[in-house]
Amino acid sequence: MQTGQPTVLVLDFGAQYAQLIARRVREARVYSEIVPFDISAEEVRRRDPAALILSGGPASVYADGAPHMDPAVLTLGIPVLGFCYGIQEMALHLGGDIPRTDIGEYGYAELEVLGDGGELLSGIPERSQCWMSHRDSVGTPPPGFSVTARTATTAIAAMEDGSRRLYATQFHPEVAHTEHGQEIIKRFLHDIVGAAPTWTMVNIIEDTVERVREQVGEDRVICALSGGVDSSVVAALLHRAIGDQLTCVFVDHGLLRLDEAEEVVRVFRDQFHVDLVHVQAEERYLSLLAGVTDPELKRRIIGEEFWRIFFEEATALEGVKWLAQGTLYPDVIESGGRAGKATAKIKSHHNLIPFPDGVHFDLIEPLSNLFKDEVRAVGAELGLPDEIVHRQPFPGPGLAVRVIGDITREKLDLLRKADAIVREEIAEWDRDRQVWQYFAVLPDIRSVGVMGDERTYAHPIIIRAVASADAMTADWARLPHELLAKMSNRIINEVDGINRVAYDITSKPPGTIEWE
Ligand code: XMP
Repeated sequence: MQTGQPTVLVLDFGAQYAQLIARRVREARVYSEIVPFDISAEEVRRRDPAALILSGGPASVYADGAPHMDPAVLTLGIPVLGFCYGIQEMALHLGGDIPRTDIGEYGYAELEVLGDGGELLSGIPERSQCWMSHRDSVGTPPPGFSVTARTATTAIAAMEDGSRRLYATQFHPEVAHTEHGQEIIKRFLHDIVGAAPTWTMVNIIEDTVERVREQVGEDRVICALSGGVDSSVVAALLHRAIGDQLTCVFVDHGLLRLDEAEEVVRVFRDQFHVDLVHVQAEERYLSLLAGVTDPELKRRIIGEEFWRIFFEEATALEGVKWLAQGTLYPDVIESGGRAGKATAKIKSHHNLIPFPDGVHFDLIEPLSNLFKDEVRAVGAELGLPDEIVHRQPFPGPGLAVRVIGDITREKLDLLRKADAIVREEIAEWDRDRQVWQYFAVLPDIRSVGVMGDERTYAHPIIIRAVASADAMTADWARLPHELLAKMSNRIINEVDGINRVAYDITSKPPGTIEWE
């Protein structure tokens, strides 16, 4: 991806750390991309990066099938910083020695900076916490290198050869547990490499706008707007770039949360003046879903109908050439970028869109070099409201998978009201957004209660709130009892038709975040 920005290439040796490194570099306001570990020196030269960072990786450089870089990359004169496995790769290729050992070092370690710390560690306190995760370590540095830090277990915790602009640490500066990690990354980028911190939101927007204009020229673009963060930012960015050449289609399936559809229309039509097609398809969906109880069948019906409606609208417009998608950089990495098949990704995403026979649009993916936090920041900078920029993950099939069993308008309305209370109360309490996702679920049962002098027989509501980093695993949020009590009271008092409230205390696994 061309950005016109100084670029740091992160060579990915297969650890989970490469993405984190790329994000840390961007937090230091320098653009970064992840490339496969075996990128050739020639390719590196062609891409002309400002610097390279070697990521951590598997335990031993001596292991069968261990990933090795093209050693010529280290002699291009481009500054290189290696972390963990990266320091060992550097030592291996430049004539250092890595003795085999059975003693590893995992977790916190006290880092002791030696002498003046060299270029990379000068100014870092003599003793601080760092994060280690390795078994092997460098025994003798390569000729020309000096050792700039150690820990009790690792004699060479950092080394450098300033004359060749090569630097490395055995610890992981990219993880938050390393006290001065980000400072070290900034020292490398800003002072040693001399890369100016220009990857700011304003520049990201300008770069993207310019790229989009170049790509689409005078063509028309269509975009499916859902009200989620990614599609909203795509729409706002494209609108900034090409104005009226953009048409957004908002398929309102009637399964959104309270006031959400109105918000989408208010923001995009009234605030941004986007050419918006608002398809009110609630009736269509309710009749398609009537009597359907199987979660996967619900999903299929909702998805298929979405694309049917979308393509009806898209093909009714004249001269649309492009379809905009909210693909993010982690999707690109996960679908092949990492394995060195960056182009394979376009195909896999492309295949996800069920183009009807004879219909085709070229894809434009304006967010494909951005991380999620950057997408949110871009959204905020473009003037999208907080409710959209910080919207929680919300399933495409919407409330259909939170009304357990068959779906009716009455059940959706009950759930919407209870869910609005849950979201309002938890948002008020969770000011710094520690809880990953929270919502209400309407199960397909009724229970007996007593309100006033009356016996009731009505639906319960289940509150679900989870802490998570990526939705792959999750733990139920330890909400204070007072907060739970308040939500329970409010739901029962304010939502006619609910007589009981339960809190879901299941983690994932074994549960899932959603109930269906
Ligand atoms: P589960 O329930 O599988 O959910 O633990 C993990 C995350 O994915 C969201 N989710 C969906 N998102 N379509 C979506 O776009 C779906 O069908 C769907 N099902 C679950 C869920 O909200 C959670 O964030």
